Amino acid sequence: MQVLSSVHAFQNQCLDLRCSGRVTALVPTMGYFHEGHLSLMRWARENADTVLVSLFVNPAQFGPAEDLDRYPRDLERDQDLARESGVDILFTPQADEVYSPNHDTWVDVPGLSTYLCGQSRPHFFRGVCTVVCKLLNMALPHTAVFGQKDWQQMVVITRMARDLNLPVQIVGRPIVREEDGLAMSSRNAYLSDQERRQAAHIYAGLQYIQDWVRDGETGTAKLKSRLEDYYARNIPSGRIDYVHFVHPWELTPVDRIDSQVLAAVAVHVGSARLIDNMLIQG
Ligand code: PAF
Repeated sequence: MQVLSSVHAFQNQCLDLRCSGRVTALVPTMGYFHEGHLSLMRWARENADTVLVSLFVNPAQFGPAEDLDRYPRDLERDQDLARESGVDILFTPQADEVYSPNHDTWVDVPGLSTYLCGQSRPHFFRGVCTVVCKLLNMALPHTAVFGQKDWQQMVVITRMARDLNLPVQIVGRPIVREEDGLAMSSRNAYLSDQERRQAAHIYAGLQYIQDWVRDGETGTAKLKSRLEDYYARNIPSGRIDYVHFVHPWELTPVDRIDSQVLAAVAVHVGSARLIDNMLIQG
């Protein structure tokens, strides 16, 4: 596995790869790898000739009061895990090379970005879209692979790629969960033991929705309040950011579950803001 930090060297090598006809897949990450990241790398390994992974904690997607400084980092361990997962090139650029001092160009998908996480993190998707667009321009991959835990991110990036005619296929891969159901996330590292136990209820609550729907409750206002009650009872260290029922690709609110609907939640547990989601069948 090669480790490159120079944007220029990475881009030149990726350009050669694309011209040589090899099929390349990019897995964009912010590092501190867990099974979720590794599953994306393994999928890329099985579906492309060359696997590229970027590891960059993108300052542009953090708000001033957010966790940029304490975001978990462990480059040595990440390198080992990437190597074991069959990655060919690990790209670890520096922030001042990705964003030059007079950087002044932003990519925004303003409609989709206002829903769900966009309400409490108004800066977030502009930062994500800008860095992903830059990474796609550097890596020129045939495919870029994202985890579905960040469902809205996957939807926003898919729309960006379509609207800008980027020559890349965006692939979303299923959420990888801990044994008790908690969605894997680098931010789980912030949880105390007690918070960690409570955080498992985020997914347990989502699972109840399908039962409630099966029992005949299809109004989303009722489902939302039942889920909020469940969280209040089972996650006492938690504070709900949102519980929403939306169209999976438009992200617009839906009143009734009569087709496939995305249940999406964000809950602060201790100092971690955790998100999760589930497709509910009508
Ligand atoms: O999902 C992430 O880790 C980040 O938002 C991404 C896509 C790597 C962009 O910085």
